[in-house]
Amino acid sequence: MPEFEVTPWEVTGIVDYNKLIEEFGTTPLTEDLLEKTKELTKSELPLYFKRKFFFSHRDYDLVLKDYEEGRGFFLYTGRGPSGPMHIGHIIPFFATKWLQENFGVNLYIQITDDEKFLFKPKRGFEDTKRWAYENILDIIAVGFDPDKTFIFQDSEFTKIYEMAIPIAKKVTYSMAKAVFGFSDQSKIGMIFFPAIQAAPTFFEEKRSLIPAAIDQDPYWRIQRDFAESLGYYKAAALHSKFVPGLTGIGGKMSASKPETAVYLTDDPEEAGKKIWKYAFTGGRATAKEQRELGGEPDKCVVFKWLEIFFEPDDKALLERYQACKNGEILCGHCKRYLIEKVQNFLKEHQRKREEAKDLMEKFKYTGKLAREQWDKAIPEPLRR
Ligand code: TRP
Repeated sequence: MPEFEVTPWEVTGIVDYNKLIEEFGTTPLTEDLLEKTKELTKSELPLYFKRKFFFSHRDYDLVLKDYEEGRGFFLYTGRGPSGPMHIGHIIPFFATKWLQENFGVNLYIQITDDEKFLFKPKRGFEDTKRWAYENILDIIAVGFDPDKTFIFQDSEFTKIYEMAIPIAKKVTYSMAKAVFGFSDQSKIGMIFFPAIQAAPTFFEEKRSLIPAAIDQDPYWRIQRDFAESLGYYKAAALHSKFVPGLTGIGGKMSASKPETAVYLTDDPEEAGKKIWKYAFTGGRATAKEQRELGGEPDKCVVFKWLEIFFEPDDKALLERYQACKNGEILCGHCKRYLIEKVQNFLKEHQRKREEAKDLMEKFKYTGKLAREQWDKAIPEPLRR
């Protein structure tokens, strides 16, 4: 048994991110690239970059060069609507928003209701379409620019199919099998699907930058194999880690294990109770021991959540780390602190999510970028 495994449909074990970089053949996101980002955007970096929640990339250096030299780039990301979204799902969208705002670029968000129907034998198409609606509300609530953002659902924006055809003509079964592990039992829809997920990287004749969790990387590996033969750029990517579930630092937050996740639609009171009950801190058996030996913040999910998202203040975070190690604070203290932060976030998010209902039309059909895409012909290189 491998110690851990990361595929687009499953993450198991305790992920060693350095090993993953080697295994996937990606590149570490280094300080000089972050410095360059700061310089070009003339902004402070958000904590997702500063604290290395995004830790790896492909061709991000070339993206920055394209930007600097005036060729520009565009952003592409997505969501598979298989159920309610939790905190782990939404963090990469906040990072994407920062990139859109600070580079002033277009953003395409693919909602793969087709994928989530095809890949789970028992899931109905009506289900994934309903979740698409619910998830889009959460995504809009993040606050993207409606004139520079196009959110599309594969089952509606069927032009995606026409764009996927030339791609599907490039990818052999053996290539897809090697990357995704398809078998003779895999449904033919699953085997075609990677062409659909690759298509948005061709929406503009510029380099695409894809901020997403690293489990999506196999798709970009395939895209990078044939993109240039179709006259396009290889996709660039920024890879994030996974947000650990409440019950332990190892796994990721899992939509199928409710005790590990805080959903964006959870009642703030209930979310607080869930954190109080399930959050793993690795604290000592007794308060006395904790004061003597100190806590173990590196094993603590509460600390991780603060580090990844909920404590933007660097100094406060560091002080908490030290105080924990020195046994000056107990786990209950940190839990209460996190609970308050999470509850405030949820209240704010849920308010914006209500407002998102009125913005849905704009992001999907009538906003400037949405209109452009619905009206545009299939790009010239794909017609040849
Ligand atoms: N396959 C992704 C998922 O299961 C959805 C997706 C489609 C996506 N296009 C993307 C995710 C681009 C990240 C970037 O969630």
